[in-house]
Amino acid sequence: MRLAKSASQEYFLDLIVGARPNLVKVAPLIRALQHEDQLKFRLVHTGQHYDTRMSQDFFEVLEIPHEQVNLEVGSSSHAKQTACIMERFEDAVLSKRPSMVVVFGDVNSTMACALVSAKLGIPIAHVEAGLRSFDRSMPEEINRIVTDSLSDLLLVSEPAGMANLRHEGHSDKAIHQVGNIMIDSLLRHLPVCSSRNTYAQHDLIPGKYALMTLHRPSNVDKPETLRSLWSCFNDLSEKVPIIFPAHPRTVQKLKELDLFQKRAPQFHIAEPVDYMDMLCLQSNASFVMTDSGGIQEETSVLGIPCLTLRENTERPITVFQGTSTLVGNSPQLIWQHAHDIAEGRYKKAGEIPLWDGRTAPRVVSAIKQYFGLATNDE
Ligand code: UD1
Repeated sequence: MRLAKSASQEYFLDLIVGARPNLVKVAPLIRALQHEDQLKFRLVHTGQHYDTRMSQDFFEVLEIPHEQVNLEVGSSSHAKQTACIMERFEDAVLSKRPSMVVVFGDVNSTMACALVSAKLGIPIAHVEAGLRSFDRSMPEEINRIVTDSLSDLLLVSEPAGMANLRHEGHSDKAIHQVGNIMIDSLLRHLPVCSSRNTYAQHDLIPGKYALMTLHRPSNVDKPETLRSLWSCFNDLSEKVPIIFPAHPRTVQKLKELDLFQKRAPQFHIAEPVDYMDMLCLQSNASFVMTDSGGIQEETSVLGIPCLTLRENTERPITVFQGTSTLVGNSPQLIWQHAHDIAEGRYKKAGEIPLWDGRTAPRVVSAIKQYFGLATNDE
């Protein structure tokens, strides 16, 4: 055991959230920090996601205390949104001068706040560091590379992340394999969500429908890709009903192409659902089709087959040890795997190391170690 720097010394953390998946990641950390006398924090919401269903509903269901600061940046182009977050976060951070800024995942808010902190000499902890798709056409890949290159504490969710960071020359001292903090939320809320029957609101039967989510630029920004996927889902829904809680950017694109209303009777579209409804829909689905990173991870833990609508993934463990199969946006592959699943042929998940519901306390330990504070596990 190491002596604490000073039993009374306090450190102040700014926790940054902006988009929906950040909220699922921050909730367990806030819970773990509430037991810490020497680590104080405030929650800063950039306002990247602002619709009630994309933000406020998640606060309620995940029992996240109200944010202390909301930068209210809203939607814009990548450059404008990033610049607006930076400008507003700089004012917020200067008024408080935190000891550390904690950022999550790979969204624009993550990178923007990391840049501001680095320029002001404030240490940065990145939760979900080291993930790489090696596809720089994804905005998130740029955000990951920039954020990691500026971070002082790299908190990694899977072994590939460790290898990527070492390969990029990060010091071993800065890198900690802590596991997947999203899975802390999943394991905490899963028992409660078993009392929900969200599928019944759409007349769906457990185990007899597919859940679909779609919002990545690679799938929705090119009209010919979106048209082809839409036609594939329409046809597939005649064999297996599909429920699609639609992200606002996808709805916008579908309306522009006049596709939104063009769906077969068993192809159901819903508004974005809250976290518990999403867990309920995932855990009762026959299979899931998605381009979300988090859902690849959640289905792997739930043991639900996942057809990942991407050419690559920054989360390779979900393919090697989880239930995810990369199908890109190929209708042929989607049909083939849907058929295999119907015949009972699909990947069974293995246990993934440190995806055990105890990642948040490990994040807290790493932060305490960084400040030279005694940790519970020393
Ligand atoms: C962002 C993240 C993505 C993450 C996703 C989760 C980046 C680069 N992308 O993508 O990695 O998987 O969040 O949902 O940060 N909109 C609304 N209401 C909202 C938010 C967005 O209507 O509350 C619409 C707007 O038209 C906006 C568009 O969605 O222009 C895109 O929103 P944005 O936050 O820029 O990116 P996402 O696609 O949500």
